[in-house]
Amino acid sequence: MIVAVDGPTASGKGTIARALAAHFSLPHLDTGLLYRAVGRQVLLNGGDPDDPADALAACAFPDALLADPELRSEATGSLASRASIHPAVRQALFDRQRKFATQPGGAVLDGRDIGTVIAPEAGAKLYVTASVPARAKRRWLEMHGQGRDVALEAIEEDLRVRDARDSGRKDAPLRAADDAVVLDTSNMTRDEAIAAAIALVEARRPI
Ligand code: C5P
Repeated sequence: MIVAVDGPTASGKGTIARALAAHFSLPHLDTGLLYRAVGRQVLLNGGDPDDPADALAACAFPDALLADPELRSEATGSLASRASIHPAVRQALFDRQRKFATQPGGAVLDGRDIGTVIAPEAGAKLYVTASVPARAKRRWLEMHGQGRDVALEAIEEDLRVRDARDSGRKDAPLRAADDAVVLDTSNMTRDEAIAAAIALVEARRPI
């Protein structure tokens, strides 16, 4: 079965997707990492993520880049969000995601457009979301734990900008698929959110 986990940044979708993959023994692909690699490669090429040709050229990033810790930074996330607007970039990354989704035995993919574009036939679709203050607080705690001192207000502002860009783009905007189950984790602990997600997928599993 294909499990699609979509949602905005810092909603907890990555944690939930990894937990679902472990629980159901399915391979997992964090598709945001592919877009982050493109964003990072644009920078390494000395290009501009807002330029469609520069962004497309960066899609030829080497696989080794996927292990670069810098991909997890806020700065790379922002570059990824800018580069991911271009239809040619989304097209260039489509086959890789589609192949992963349709492998025998199924898979879990998390991103923005898994349930709407990459695998509309997914057997289970979750749209994981949370309020901006809840997501900003989680991100702040995570960064604080890594010894990075960032103002909560700056994180909130960054989340709002990224949400607006991801939801407002013409090609594959961030939105819940019509048949997705919305899981709002604002008032849930990590374990509660994971348990709720497992129960939702369980209910959709073929008998
Ligand atoms: O999920 P993550 O924060 O790692 O994604 C980084 C950026 O990549 C997002 O802000 C979004 O613009 C883009 N993205 C996308 N489609 C996906 C996954 C990520 O456009 N399936």
